[in-house]
Amino acid sequence: MKNINQFIEEQIDAIRKTVGRGKVLCALSGGVDSAVTALLVHRAVGDKLLCMFIDSGLMRKGEPEEVAATFGRHFGIPLQTVRAGDRFLEALKGVTDPEAKRKIIGNLFIRVFEEEAEKLGDFAFLAQGTIYPDIIESGSDGKLVKTHHNVGGLPENLNFELIEPLKTLYKDEVRAVGRALGLPEPVVNRQPFPGPGLGIRIIGEVTAEKLAILKEADAAFREVIENNNLSVWQYFAVLTDIKTVGMRDGERTYNYTIALRAVDSTDAMTAEWVRLPWTALEAATQKIARIPGVGRVVYDITAKPPATIEWE
Ligand code: XMP
Repeated sequence: MKNINQFIEEQIDAIRKTVGRGKVLCALSGGVDSAVTALLVHRAVGDKLLCMFIDSGLMRKGEPEEVAATFGRHFGIPLQTVRAGDRFLEALKGVTDPEAKRKIIGNLFIRVFEEEAEKLGDFAFLAQGTIYPDIIESGSDGKLVKTHHNVGGLPENLNFELIEPLKTLYKDEVRAVGRALGLPEPVVNRQPFPGPGLGIRIIGEVTAEKLAILKEADAAFREVIENNNLSVWQYFAVLTDIKTVGMRDGERTYNYTIALRAVDSTDAMTAEWVRLPWTALEAATQKIARIPGVGRVVYDITAKPPATIEWE
């Protein structure tokens, strides 16, 4: 991308032409991709945009509240929150395959959108924060790595026409566009978060119990990184499906293993594991090991490739 302002003007123009007098729903997730998408579409069509945030219950601890507050405060665009956590858990019951989980979550997001749109009236367009790596890693070049939420998860009978203004950009370019559009720095620099959320950071079946444990573990890890003023591109906790034997108050325990991952990258296509200070890893482990249901904490030191950033 040579000229950011030119890109912005071209996209605004294209969105206006596509939308005409129609109305647009924006699939807002709280991440930088959908925030930039929403701003672009808002610039293009103003009040014909309604942003909707589907609370799948698969976000990090405190995140749905943060999304609502930040979005309202910074953008002044009306945001409708739909609470759908129970539906997502129900749909994921008994499902263990990563690709199946991704498809179920992606499909349900769209279905909930369609239902809500129907209640709202006449929305012909759906704006999504799809970026270039989402498309290539979803196998448009013939090699499927993993189905990204915004691409492969779409049902066949989609009732919306999609608007995806960022689909030719890499992550660093999306951030540059965000800055040029006046997005506040904390939103621009917010770490990437996958569309399927914690659903793909829980290995095996997603249950309410596992979700509750992972949310606490992830929040504890975030707190330690922030308290130590560490600047890390992306970091998170994973709830592995491995239970191991441990001891608490002199009693035998048999609890889950939490894996911590911290990576450095520029475009998410490759990544290096971050050499976190031992003291930070120790502090995180002590906090996380106290969470009921957790028996052990490990640190993932695999680069991408051969691993991917997420575990599923
Ligand atoms: P992987 O695991 O493929 O992740 O190395 C690369 C980057 O993309 C994020 N990610 C996703 N983002 N929808 C998204 O919008 C998804 O389905 C998805 N899966 C992974 C991941 O967090 C990392 O930053």
